[in-house]
Amino acid sequence: MTKFDALRSHAARLRGLRAPDLLEQDPARASEFALRVGPLYASFARQGYDRQALAALHALAAELDLKAAYQRLFCGEVVNPTEGRAALHTALRSNLTQGRLAQEAHAEAARVRARMGQLVAALEASEVTDIVSVGIGGSDLGPRHVVDALGPLQPKLRVHFISNVDGAAAQRTLAGLDPATTAAILISKTFGTQETLLNGRILAEWLGGSERLYAVSANPQRASDAFDIPSERVLPMWDWVGGRYSLWSAVGFPIALAIGFRNFEALLEGAALMDQHVLEAPAESNLPIRHGLTAIWNRNVLGHAAHGVMTYDQRLALLPNYLQQLVMESLGKSTRIDGSPVDCETVPVWWGGPGTDVQHSFFQALHQGTQIVPLDFVGTIHNDDPYTENHIALLSNLLAQSEALANGQASDDPHRSYAGGRPSTMILLDALTPQSLGALIAMYEHSVYAQSLAWGINAFDQFGVELGKQLASGLLPALKGVAEAEDPVTRALLEQIRTR
Ligand code: F6P
Repeated sequence: MTKFDALRSHAARLRGLRAPDLLEQDPARASEFALRVGPLYASFARQGYDRQALAALHALAAELDLKAAYQRLFCGEVVNPTEGRAALHTALRSNLTQGRLAQEAHAEAARVRARMGQLVAALEASEVTDIVSVGIGGSDLGPRHVVDALGPLQPKLRVHFISNVDGAAAQRTLAGLDPATTAAILISKTFGTQETLLNGRILAEWLGGSERLYAVSANPQRASDAFDIPSERVLPMWDWVGGRYSLWSAVGFPIALAIGFRNFEALLEGAALMDQHVLEAPAESNLPIRHGLTAIWNRNVLGHAAHGVMTYDQRLALLPNYLQQLVMESLGKSTRIDGSPVDCETVPVWWGGPGTDVQHSFFQALHQGTQIVPLDFVGTIHNDDPYTENHIALLSNLLAQSEALANGQASDDPHRSYAGGRPSTMILLDALTPQSLGALIAMYEHSVYAQSLAWGINAFDQFGVELGKQLASGLLPALKGVAEAEDPVTRALLEQIRTR
């Protein structure tokens, strides 16, 4: 007997019913299976559960005591026991609990943010026109995505990103820039990451010294020492912020430079709105909990092995990349917190892209392929560009895709028939603003935590990425020709690399 058995009996009862059947049984679900939190509206009406199954999902939420688990997270309890750490990203933007650690973290974060504000003001007033942000993973994807989404809000400083260890990335980015008017921020929680250290050296050399070098790290001394950066240009972060949850900290320095400090604060305010909601709203009307339970339904009850995020706003094109790390690095585990193997499937493959482009590439498979892939559609009601005709067309495509996938269409010609029954959640932002984006990202963070609790896994460690890093370091001497690789396949490949 697993905790998903009761849910599976609902799935068996609902088997064969598609969205139109569920709507016929319960027409009110079209509007009642939706939740609004501030600028976000999310409709779950095209998910394959009915009210009874949803009640069973909420029984699971109650059994897991999700509400108490959020309290523990927000208070600063050690929710990352494999590393003995709290995960206090919420303290970077809200102050909602009496927990001493959370209170201290919040105050410390505010102090560092004020320092960051001064650095932003100084750079805005300087001759600098371009910023190069150097970091990878959690020290890159959050800022990169938010800058891409909101960058045009404050066009004074152009912000560029280098993450990959491939020198072509640095070469391309630096090609169009002038070292005399460029500053660089080296972002690394550990300051031990190969990619960032190598790219940091390229930048230091290219800039001709450390005068316009800045750093963000939980190891500020190491940053100062390695690149000769004075402490006033090094912003701290802390062990209690996971890399993929860190855009709200000084890791967001490039965001504040690209969109302005006030807009950065508004991003935090949007996330704080979602923090308050997740703590205070009853589970039944709690958006991150509903989103997390829907993920459990699709993964563990219906067995779907992939999940797509399709953004119907070009400015959110990098959201799927950002979410891939947030979700798959957090939930890609097969060992429970207590060390035992999990007794269920965990994270599906997350991927996605911007509509309408994706409709002309892989959507064929989503409509008629043999795999059902549940989707999140993310769209924006108001556009900020002057091309309203295009925006109306964009919205019509967004609505049409979700409807076509859910309802399908029968035809005498099997090649032209659509089975339907392909679930999606529709998330609509009133407009793309710092607040709405902050709320959206925080919604996903909190949904991830709910899913980790259902699976009994730690959402805040990432040991899976370590082995590859170790092997890569170990192979450096072999690539330089001063040692031999142990593994015979690697040896044969090295032979090719050396001789060709
Ligand atoms: O890819 C693994 C990882 O450890 C991520 O979790 C982290 O965000 C990234 O590397 C970069 O780490 P750092 O900020 O320490 O350079």
